[in-house]
This record gives sequence, C-alpha cells and structure tokens, in this order.
Amino acid sequence: MTEKTTPDDPSDRNTISDDIRNEPPNLDPEDDLSATFLSIEPSEGAPFSEINNDPILREIGDTPLVPHPENEQIVCKMERQNPTLSHKDRLGAGMILGLRQKGELEEGQAVVEASSGNTAGAVALAANRLGHPCTIVMRETTSPVKSGFVRALGAEVVTAPDVDHDHDFYYQKVAETYAEEHDAVYLNQYERELNRHVHYEWTGPELYEQIKGEGVTHIVGAMSTCGFLTGVAEYIKEIEPSIKIVGADGEESNISRMFYGEEEGNYDVDIEGLGQWRVTETANFDVIDDVRSVSDSIAVSRAKHEAADNGLLMGLSSGAAMEVAQSITQEDDDTKVVSIIHDGAEQYFHEVEDW
Ligand SMILES: Cc1ncc(COP(=O)(O)O)c(C=O)c1O
Repeated sequence: MTEKTTPDDPSDRNTISDDIRNEPPNLDPEDDLSATFLSIEPSEGAPFSEINNDPILREIGDTPLVPHPENEQIVCKMERQNPTLSHKDRLGAGMILGLRQKGELEEGQAVVEASSGNTAGAVALAANRLGHPCTIVMRETTSPVKSGFVRALGAEVVTAPDVDHDHDFYYQKVAETYAEEHDAVYLNQYERELNRHVHYEWTGPELYEQIKGEGVTHIVGAMSTCGFLTGVAEYIKEIEPSIKIVGADGEESNISRMFYGEEEGNYDVDIEGLGQWRVTETANFDVIDDVRSVSDSIAVSRAKHEAADNGLLMGLSSGAAMEVAQSITQEDDDTKVVSIIHDGAEQYFHEVEDW
C-alpha cells in the first residue's frame, strides 16, 4: 500500500496548480511550425505573415459558411469559430500587427484596450502570442465570462465604474489615461480606422471568395463600432456593388438615427455588440445600404428560437442580425442573405431567462 504524505504546514504544499499559476505568460514565442510532429502548412489568407506562422493565431479566420437549417435563403458566417469565440479575434491580432507595421507600436511595448465585450479576450490573446504586456479596462459590471478570458490569457484587468460617457472615469477615458501614464499604446477600436481596415483586408476577401458566383444579394451583421460591417462592405462594394449591406442596430441607439439623418437620442440597449451612443470614426455609411433597428427582446427571442428549434447557437447581437436577415427573405423570395454569427450563445446563458 502506498502511503500518502501531507505536509504539516499547508503553506508548504507545492501543488501543480500553484506552479502553473506562478508561471508568467509566454510573451516571447518562437514559433516554428516545422518542429511539430504534424506536418502543418502555414495558412494563407490572413493579411499578416506573423498570424499565418503562429499555431494559435493562425486559427483565426477562415470561418465556415453554414446553410440555415430552416430558411434556404440564408447562410450563416460562423465567426464564433475563432479562438476566443468571436469576430473580434481578427481585430485583436490585426490591430496589434497593423500598429507595429505603421511603427506606432514597438515590439514588446504594452498595449491597453477598453472593452467589456469580445474585444477584451481577443486583444488579450493577440498580445499573449505576439509578446505585448496587456491591460484591458473594463466596466465594473462586466460579465465574469469576459474578464475570465482576459485573466486566463495572462493580461491585467483594470476596472472602471459603470458611468456615462461624459464622466471622467468612463472606461474608454480611463484606458486612454492609463496608456499615457504607462508608456503603452491605447488600441482604441472606437476611433482607429485600422478597425475597419482589418476587416477590409481580411474578412471581406475571405467572405467574397466563399460567396462569389452564388447569387448572394445581402450581407447582414450587427453594428457597434461598425468596424466589421464597414470593412466587409468597403471590400465587397468594390467588386460587386449590387450586394446590399444591411446593419442591425438596437432600438434605442444612435447608429440608425444618424444613418437616417435623425436627431441623436438616448442610447439604451442591453445587448452586447448592438448599437452605440454615437457613430464612431470607424464607420463609413457610404457603403452601407440600410440599417434596421431590433429591440432587445426580439433579438433574444430570435437567438432562443434558432437554438431551440434549429440547433443553431448564436449570441444575442447575432439574433438581431438574424431577425433582419429573416425579414429580408420574407420581403422577397429571390433574396439570398449572409447573416453574420458574431459569437456564440454560451457567453449569454447566464443572463437570459430560461437559457
Ligand atoms: C457580439 C458582438 N456582435 C457584434 C458586434 C459589432 O461589431 P463592430 O464593433 O465591429 O461593429 C460586436 C462588437 O462589439 C460584438 O461584440
């Protein structure tokens, strides 16, 4: 019989989990794909060679198009297949490498981003693999799912109070100040045009290769910074201007109001990634054909219906986009619509009743 030995003093216990926890994140990877026992070809398609050669980052993008199980006029672009489970992985890696290429970020320099959503984990992952210390400023109300990604990937979380955008401690202002004080670069997905350029260079060409010659009439996605849909639209419109690009916005949100030249009003949307209190510098309405508003409750019930009745799991902003896609196909039998699945349902189970 083997005898179990337990140290007298619990602090003497050096468990495996303690060892792991004490290890610093791997910030200087030397990736040599040929060193693996599998023969892996570096992927093509991402606009930066550093992504193609990294075994983790190369999993970003190249997401599948899946036919909608019930509505044969709709196909779904499954951005949830990215490593941190949303389209923002393209943004995290693309912004860090883009800023390096422009000489605005040095190798090894710290990066800061403001996000209470999917960008948080995406930037933390890219920073981890590309060797940048990383801080994410999050609102204090941020879901532990989102902060979990950040901490798990070895980045620092700084918490800001949940105050309005005109307050000094608004999380985006805190991030800017924090970066200035720490000689770090504030990525700023809201104001940097690089946000939409990443999607122009990467997501647009990838999607076009998948749909060319298939008679697609519409592409529908949710809008917040507007970087994703604008970048995709700018690329697609250059080649096939007849394809209509349609954004889903929240009901009480300023993107649709500004798109239709109405007065700015109150922003009150609970769904992550749906709408904004302003139209950011990353948006370009010239390439967007229509913006439709979807209420929080309709977005949620659409996401629940797609999961329960069609086995199609999606997050809540994707529920809003899918609602718009469904309405387009109901208006015209000849339409063929790509609906973006920005992220998965699993990040929202805890906040949706009966999920
Ligand atoms: C879940 C989700 N859907 C849609 C969007 C909208 O993407 P973008 O900011 O590129 O407009 C976001 C971005 O915040 C998001 O996190």
